[in-house]
Amino acid sequence: CGELKPWNGEVHSVYSPVCVHTSEGLKRKLIGTYPVCTQKEAIDSLDAAVEAYNNGRGVWPTMGVQERIACVENFTHKMIAQKDIVVKLIMWEIGKSYADSIKEFDRTVEYIYATIDALKDIDRDSSRFQIEQGIVAQVRRSPLGVVLCMGPFNYPLNETFTTLIPALIMGNTILFKPPKHGTLLFYPLLQAFKESFPKGVVNTIYGRGHNIVPVLMQSGKINVLTLIGSSKVADELKKMHPKVNRLRAILGLDAKNAAIITQNADVKLAVSETVLGSLSFNGQRCTALKIIFVHKSIVDEFLSQLTAEVEKLKYGMPWEKGVALTPLPEPHKPAYLKECIDDAVAKGARVVNENGGETCESFVYPAIVYPVNKEMKLYREEQFGPVIPVLAFDDLEEPIQYLIESTHGQQVSVFSNDAEEVASLIDPLVNQVSRVNVNCQCQRGPDVFPFTGRKDSAEGTLSVVDALRSFSIRSLVATKLNENNKH
Ligand code: G3H
Repeated sequence: CGELKPWNGEVHSVYSPVCVHTSEGLKRKLIGTYPVCTQKEAIDSLDAAVEAYNNGRGVWPTMGVQERIACVENFTHKMIAQKDIVVKLIMWEIGKSYADSIKEFDRTVEYIYATIDALKDIDRDSSRFQIEQGIVAQVRRSPLGVVLCMGPFNYPLNETFTTLIPALIMGNTILFKPPKHGTLLFYPLLQAFKESFPKGVVNTIYGRGHNIVPVLMQSGKINVLTLIGSSKVADELKKMHPKVNRLRAILGLDAKNAAIITQNADVKLAVSETVLGSLSFNGQRCTALKIIFVHKSIVDEFLSQLTAEVEKLKYGMPWEKGVALTPLPEPHKPAYLKECIDDAVAKGARVVNENGGETCESFVYPAIVYPVNKEMKLYREEQFGPVIPVLAFDDLEEPIQYLIESTHGQQVSVFSNDAEEVASLIDPLVNQVSRVNVNCQCQRGPDVFPFTGRKDSAEGTLSVVDALRSFSIRSLVATKLNENNKH
């Protein structure tokens, strides 16, 4: 409840994807525990956020913007002081390489400062007056209430703060549940939250999401749900809210981003961007390339270059220098990926690269699977792991139809050196997805760019400016001019 409380209840054991040898063979290493709060404790924390908001009359929502900025800056200084331990916890909890864990931390700090800068602009914008028909209006941005904030395991710090910070700085109060994999890393920040914000403004709950989140939603006290995670979970949670039409949802959800590599592509470039796009953090990015369409005239060359590049990637422990492939945090993932590969092979595809798809406890060696067709799981399911499904096309209409029929709509990458061909594809593609990348992989960054998706891939838009708008409402103070106040 915005306070650090002693704990004597149930605890959950946290196992790292990094394995150690035991008498029973290779096992995930136990690295810590976290408290599992009960439904009542979760509701107590929610009530602390409700009380701090106090129907918009609390200290935080009524505080001046500059004072709120000062609190966030104070928090950020304290967070930077904890960088070393937070980075190591990211690495140990989710198996992200040390270099990428540092990048995640630095990028989060940059995002916070960019949010503060953008807020200054929005604040200037807000102080504008509009006069129409004898009425003068001051346009403001006002908070929405209590925000339930849940980030994903793949960017536990960055994606959580992508929503938490703009929601907070706009004057909302926060109930925040860390992701299942990526919980311990918030421990070093709890004291900083406590010291930087008034009581009840930021409340952290640790526990089993499926047990506590439904009661929070059913309480009807959540004004904004923000989740970076699964489309199915988001749909289920929204339905639990008793007044769903009054709930604002800011969601970053499932995606199945495609690459379209035409006969006019620079194959070498397409290969290097496919490797980055499909295998960065072992393919565990919502923005990852998850299916690759290659023109049939260049598919053999593409596959041979792709295989050679994948074989150059170093796999190992997250702290090893130059490591690209690391163990996976989700215990079910190796078996799921094997199921997808076996399904494709049973339906006529082959694993192109030697050792592709082989697993060793939490490791999965990347698999290039070709040719993928409509009957296979890999055609539509979001594998979220190191598997690259490839298929050959004859006519550009085929990948366009794939996107039209897809329930996802986040991004697409097009590789072609023919400017006219690219130009002819932009409209058909940008009307299916929210970002078209030309001759480069799909990605979220730079983080100041709008980040959203069509269809089941998102609700609302995140980027610094869009996020500030998403977590607030335009409100007016409208005054009718008369003889007494027209000056
Ligand atoms: O998983 C979703 C992340 O926001 C992706 O970010 O494209 O920079 O890896 P990224």
